[in-house]
Amino acid sequence: MGHLVLEGRTVNATIGTISHYEGQEVRLGAWLYNKRSSGKIQFLQLRDGTGFIQGVLVKNEVSPEVWEAAQTLTQESSLYITGTVRKEERAPSGYELSVRDLEVIQIAEEYPIALKEHGTEFLMDHRHLWIRTPRQRAILRIRDEVIRATYDFFHERGFVKVDPPILTPTTAEGTTNLFQTQYFDEVAYLSQSGQLYMEAAAMALGRVYSFGPTFRAEKSKTRKHLIEFWMIEPEMAFVEHEESMKIQEEYVSYLVERVLARCSLELKTLERDVKKLEAIKPPFPRVTYDEAMKRLKEKGFEITWGEDFGAPHEVALAEDHDRPIFITHWPVETKAFYMKPDPTRPEVVLCADLIAPEGYGEIIGGSQRIDDPALLEERFREHHLSPESYKWYLDLRRYGSVPHSGFGLGLERTVAWIAGVEHVRETIPFPRLLNRLYP
Ligand code: 4AD
Ligand code: MG
Repeated sequence: MGHLVLEGRTVNATIGTISHYEGQEVRLGAWLYNKRSSGKIQFLQLRDGTGFIQGVLVKNEVSPEVWEAAQTLTQESSLYITGTVRKEERAPSGYELSVRDLEVIQIAEEYPIALKEHGTEFLMDHRHLWIRTPRQRAILRIRDEVIRATYDFFHERGFVKVDPPILTPTTAEGTTNLFQTQYFDEVAYLSQSGQLYMEAAAMALGRVYSFGPTFRAEKSKTRKHLIEFWMIEPEMAFVEHEESMKIQEEYVSYLVERVLARCSLELKTLERDVKKLEAIKPPFPRVTYDEAMKRLKEKGFEITWGEDFGAPHEVALAEDHDRPIFITHWPVETKAFYMKPDPTRPEVVLCADLIAPEGYGEIIGGSQRIDDPALLEERFREHHLSPESYKWYLDLRRYGSVPHSGFGLGLERTVAWIAGVEHVRETIPFPRLLNRLYP
């Protein structure tokens, strides 16, 4: 496995790979997370970023210097620690460390995040330290697994990763929530979505996907809204909306499967009900907007055709299912300018929102794209988009237009759902929120 195990010699190890060193003496760089003492024994809760382990010091088995050094350790003090790896069934990692030696790197000042409950604003102000806690570490590790699984899923299926620009001259998802910045003598906007560029890329490379930051100056203060969030945007030439939905349900199921397979410790830390995740298998139910309206009315909502759904509607629709549901065929006026109308019913578009179970709301927005240049020009006029700025986008329909579809999955909402975390502010390392740009 590439791990160095040498009889009778101390090796540098990490907690994440500690199982490879049972019975060996190892040296770890670590921080003290917590400690307790029973007079003759000190129990050090150690973390090194890759995991947590308990170090056990027995007074008459270590030198007086080592014993005293351990006693001086405050929360988050940094140290090198040497000891023998022992199996310990009761430990979450399955192992503990019988400590022989200890070298203090720094005694930490009084740590602001004590091991007790703190208010959200306090924790958000200390986000740079908050991420050291087991819960936050688990969430960020799950985020990483979702990213890796994304790369694997799309590469295994022949998709090419393409990076769209972040500074853009136009809008992709409407003009109301744009971040504007000066671009020398021009105005530029931070990207709301890479989609339009991904459409160009799909015409060049067939099946493509992007993964990058996107920005929405939305004045929304909800558990699902970030100002800066990360989106995965696949775009596929010669793919109609039906096939796109198949790829979406396979992709989302793959993400859940990978987190179940590779993040069991993290899910345990978060007390996630994994039974709910084990149910996530394709196919996902497809519900038309019209059918959804009917269900909502039955549930007592007052809503008229042509209205967008809000969070309470999404929750009410999702609660009847144990897996994500597609809501398809939305009224043209509820959606972005580029969506292709249903040829049999032009007042609705070939699109779907994927709504996660358990109240986590929309995790994917996707559609087939308009491929007819005349219709696209008409939409530019209706949406007051300058044809000059979108000339390049129209070109995609002028030179070998083909049916094509794509979608965008919001990473933070997806991680919130899989990890069972209430608010997206915990599923991105440094959240940008309404009224929060620090740290
Ligand atoms: O539905 P949206 O706006 O779709 C698009 O941007 C398309 N251009 C994507 C495409 O077809 N290529 O956003 C897609 C997803 C949403 O379903 C949601 O998961 C996430 O992005 N999202 C947000 N996540 C966090 N905070 C916000 N403010 C978000 N807005 C959208
Ligand atoms: Mg959407």
